[in-house]
Amino acid sequence: MNPSIHPDLHAISFLLGTWVGTGSGIYPTIDDFSYDETATYTHVGKPFIAYGQKTRRSDSGEPLHSEAGYFRPSGVSAVELLIAQPSGISELHVGEVSGSTIDLTATSVVTTPTAKEVVSVRRLLMVEGDSMRYQLFMGAVGQPHQLHLSATLKKVKPV
Ligand code: HEM
Repeated sequence: MNPSIHPDLHAISFLLGTWVGTGSGIYPTIDDFSYDETATYTHVGKPFIAYGQKTRRSDSGEPLHSEAGYFRPSGVSAVELLIAQPSGISELHVGEVSGSTIDLTATSVVTTPTAKEVVSVRRLLMVEGDSMRYQLFMGAVGQPHQLHLSATLKKVKPV
């Protein structure tokens, strides 16, 4: 049975589906890299979207970053996001929804004792029809807040 989308999700229902594409990563302390990504945004009829992504290095196919979390609408144009990463980093965000753009800023980044230092994160998601672009900015490992990731994904499967 396919549950109906919870009414609270309507402002962010453009996220729902499976998205596939490519991205590039930069940071002053590391070599530039390109990656392939698959991201899923699903719902169960409750007022949250479950999110997960997996990435691989484009040249070698080696697994890279992955993460999982939940988008929680918190009003007409506001959303909260929780994310956990196997690298020991967790993020709590609050964000604004404007049309089909979501601008999220971490209110808290908590890392395990052995994780790399991350002190700030901003995630910008822009959807136009079946195309999603995102950018991720971070302040990490002693560097000022700046771009780490840019990617463009296509929706390959609807809700
Ligand atoms: C598509 C998602 C991501 C990909 C493909 C990716 C990939 C990479 C790669 C390839 C490196 C180089 C070193 C290594 O191999 O570990 C790296 C470093 C790093 N990434 Fe990411 N990353 C992603 C998302 C994130 C996120 C969401 C955060 C934190 C919020 C993050 C924080 C870091 C940090 C702290 C470093 C270490 C920099 C250093 O040691 O100098 N990354 N990332």
